Amino acid sequence: MEILHVGAECYPAAKVGGLADVIGSLPKYQNNAGNNVSVAIPCYQTAFRLENNFECIHSGKLKLGHFNFPYSVLKETSDKLGFELYLIEIPELFDRSNIYNYRDDTERFLSFQIAVLDWICGLNVMPDIIHCHDHHTGLIPFMKKYCPKYEKLKDIPTIITIHNGIYQGIFTFNKLYYLPEFDLINIKELEWNNCINSLVAAVKCVDEITTVSTSYLNEINYSANGLETLFQRVKHKSRGILNGIDLDVWDPNSDPMLEKNYSVNTINEGKQKNKEKLCSLFNMNPAKPLFSFIGRLYDEKGADLLPKVISSVLTAYKDEINFLILGYGDIEIENQLKQLLEVYKGNYHVHIGYDEELAHKTYAGSDFILIPSRIEPCGLNQMYAMRYGTVPIVRRTGGLKDIITDFEDNGNGICHDQASVEDICDAIHRAVGLYLDKEAYGQIRIKGMNTDHSWEHVSQEYIELYNLIIAKRHEN
Ligand code: GLC
Repeated sequence: MEILHVGAECYPAAKVGGLADVIGSLPKYQNNAGNNVSVAIPCYQTAFRLENNFECIHSGKLKLGHFNFPYSVLKETSDKLGFELYLIEIPELFDRSNIYNYRDDTERFLSFQIAVLDWICGLNVMPDIIHCHDHHTGLIPFMKKYCPKYEKLKDIPTIITIHNGIYQGIFTFNKLYYLPEFDLINIKELEWNNCINSLVAAVKCVDEITTVSTSYLNEINYSANGLETLFQRVKHKSRGILNGIDLDVWDPNSDPMLEKNYSVNTINEGKQKNKEKLCSLFNMNPAKPLFSFIGRLYDEKGADLLPKVISSVLTAYKDEINFLILGYGDIEIENQLKQLLEVYKGNYHVHIGYDEELAHKTYAGSDFILIPSRIEPCGLNQMYAMRYGTVPIVRRTGGLKDIITDFEDNGNGICHDQASVEDICDAIHRAVGLYLDKEAYGQIRIKGMNTDHSWEHVSQEYIELYNLIIAKRHEN
């Protein structure tokens, strides 16, 4: 089957969060299973773009309203990713080092989508399915369905995977003229609350919708930033498919970024060595339990609670435990976390920024990973942590709830119900108790390492879904 994934991020070419990890690994597993899989993302000015070789396979000139723009399609030539990666180059809009948060994001991602459609119209071999990810690609299904310009693509089924429904790609109707011409009778398909909403348009126009966990699919029926009733209406074509992880990239036994590689058989010594190295970087004593947080510093991730949690726990436990935070995001949260550095020197460190290598080292060297998210459609950190023998402490929501159960219920981690300072502190308190019970703690670590979260089965689920959609289209 010819599969085309379209998204805003793809590891290692461009990463902000878990979206990149999924688009950088699911295609590889689908390819290994005998499909021809391609990924298209915008061409940002990232290190990957500068350090790798690309061949220009197509170029053209397009319009976004009155704005004329040239575009090129660059194919990555090394073959090392396990799928074909295409970067859509639109210099004026994407020749920048960041991925999001520019004032012209609407124009950027709409131009990208128009360029993708224009490029595939000219292909000799058409995709059998176009798999869109999140709102940045949400207008593709609409334009493909209703713009006569893309008539050639009309029979190609589309699916959207919702990685995070908070972000919806909303803009006002005075930018409607950006879209290629279509019969205005279909304008309703774009609309939500009197605005154009890219995620809504996708949800209305695709053949199938997937969310990245079953619990998240249930949650968006009553909490989805205003889209609840829409999600209730499209239940018949929605399903939750839990993400997997790339076992080649995330393997403590071969991970080149670690101080020492280890497997389930050498877990004690392996983790100890990694912990010693990690602690030495931040002047911490490796004899104490190390609690870490890795992720973007936003309320959505519960990161606003961390400063109070750290103060409260480090006051209660004096210097009996250590905390390490890696991430960036909300300036206010970053500042609060930085202010604690002086106060809890020797027991606490915060690294502001994104550092893939330090993240790997932290999964390997920590005892517990905190994931207190308010919203977590899937979450990959709990899976990475388990794979590295680190015990996750999670709030029961979305994919965290689907994957982690509490050790007191014979589970594989520690759970709390509220995203509140009290609940998180209580979970940490129980974690310290568990840590002291070496046997019980050791068993949970081993249980985590032995759990299979690979894409192998999951990627097959997607293929079955594509086949189902294609078969349905043939029936009609
Ligand atoms: C988004 C979600 C996260 C999910 C990831 C990959 O970042 O917030 O929960 O794991 O996408 O699907």
